[in-house]
Amino acid sequence: MKKFLITTAIDYPSGKPHMGHAYEKICTDVIARYKRLSGFDVHFSTGTDEHGMKIQRCAEREKKTPKEYVDGMVEYFKALCDALNISQDDFIRTTDDKHRKTAQGIFKGIFDKGEIYKGSYEGLYCVDCETYYTEKDLRDGKCPVHGTAPDNVSEESYFFQMGKYREKLLEHIRKHPDFIQPDSKRNEIVNRLMNPLKDLSVSRTSFSWGVPVPIDENHVQYVWMDALINYLSTVGWPSPKAKEFWPTAVHIIGKDIVWHHTVIWGSILMAAGIPLPKTVYVHGFVNIKGAKMSKSSGTVVDPVGLAEKYGADPLRYFLVSEIPFGDDGDFSVESLVTRNNDELLNNLGNLVNRVLTFIYNKNGGNVTEHKDFDSADKALIKSMESYPKKVAKYIDDFNLQAALDGIMKLSKEGNEYFQQKEPWKNDYSNCLYIGANLLRSLAIMLSPFIPESAEKIWKYLNLPGSVHKQKWESAAKLDVKGKHKINKPEPLFTRL
Ligand code: MSP
Repeated sequence: MKKFLITTAIDYPSGKPHMGHAYEKICTDVIARYKRLSGFDVHFSTGTDEHGMKIQRCAEREKKTPKEYVDGMVEYFKALCDALNISQDDFIRTTDDKHRKTAQGIFKGIFDKGEIYKGSYEGLYCVDCETYYTEKDLRDGKCPVHGTAPDNVSEESYFFQMGKYREKLLEHIRKHPDFIQPDSKRNEIVNRLMNPLKDLSVSRTSFSWGVPVPIDENHVQYVWMDALINYLSTVGWPSPKAKEFWPTAVHIIGKDIVWHHTVIWGSILMAAGIPLPKTVYVHGFVNIKGAKMSKSSGTVVDPVGLAEKYGADPLRYFLVSEIPFGDDGDFSVESLVTRNNDELLNNLGNLVNRVLTFIYNKNGGNVTEHKDFDSADKALIKSMESYPKKVAKYIDDFNLQAALDGIMKLSKEGNEYFQQKEPWKNDYSNCLYIGANLLRSLAIMLSPFIPESAEKIWKYLNLPGSVHKQKWESAAKLDVKGKHKINKPEPLFTRL
């Protein structure tokens, strides 16, 4: 079976999960679910990045050991995955034993190749980013991401000879246009790589909460030299299984950590003699009223609370349809409610309800047998047959918004068809037969986006098994036969 590895970034459990974390997990989940339906053996990982100075400080503030602190916090991130119906195959924590072994193995492998040397580090460090900056990177002397003054640090450190990979990275990016997407992000990295690349400090001595450096117990691995390796440990690197999955890897990450995932990660892998991931796909930020969410302005929204209040599917639907994947977008409860009412309820919910209720009430719950198709029947059948391929292409190109929009257009076509056929006045055989088949097709295509509602449609249609175990291409088929008995339908969505 063809393999497919897809990963989200692993989150810092230094606070509770926010809408940005939710957004990344939902979009990645859509792709993972779609790939499973498309016949791939998928490994989808998400998790938490639990080491480093930032976490150690949070634990100290709460008078806990770092491990006690992260053990408590990680539950919020697991609860987020549950609340949003994320279908991860692995929730990886950088404090997992399996991860520590892989992280140390990679460090040691690179050290043994003579790519790591001991030196001393002096410079500026933003603890919130866990990233070193030069004066030039700062904005008014402050971290460009957090707007806080970086620490001046000076300590003995191991360095990885990242500098020598500049040209190799540029060559790799040139030869593999799929490596960094979208194009704008690739261009950004290529531009930054026009400047000399410095070696990277990959160990710390000023705190102890980290993976011990395998060749020197006084040092812990730099958090990014630890966290990035989670992508290998999640598949059990260096096992044969991992080697099968690895070349297919797609990393879904936000725009603030592109450098880490392309330049730092790319050069570490090159040094270790491991192929680079196939794609790093960069999404934008979820903002509130055009501005970054922040605790101080009270604009941090709790995604678990929202999913509980409005339902996971309306939230998933809203985020994917509202924000073009790759760009920034805005979250607001008002727009979520509007999309739920206007699109899920009035378009999809209406179609499901009118087709199924008609079958249930007027035809004893049995799907009708079709007769000769007229031009309206034929037109809708043609759409049903062509949409799965069209939508698949959008998802393969990471255009999740267009994919979802396409499926909803097909639903709209279904409503127009029903309206035009007026089954309450005319012979309804073809209308109900095509209607039931259209719902089946929509359920399959919608299952990656709104998994709970898609499964409900499947159950109302009384089809065998689960919608999540179907084949994507079968959405193009008319598999519901005449005389098939459906279950009693219930309203799919509620007006918010
Ligand atoms: N721990 C690192 C990632 C290590 S991956 C080897 C980290 N953690 S994070 O918690 O700060 O961010 C996790 C993910 O959420 C990142 O991909 C980040 O870009 C994304 N987002 C954080 N805030 C976001 C928004 N407001 N909107 C969308 N995504 C954002 O970085």
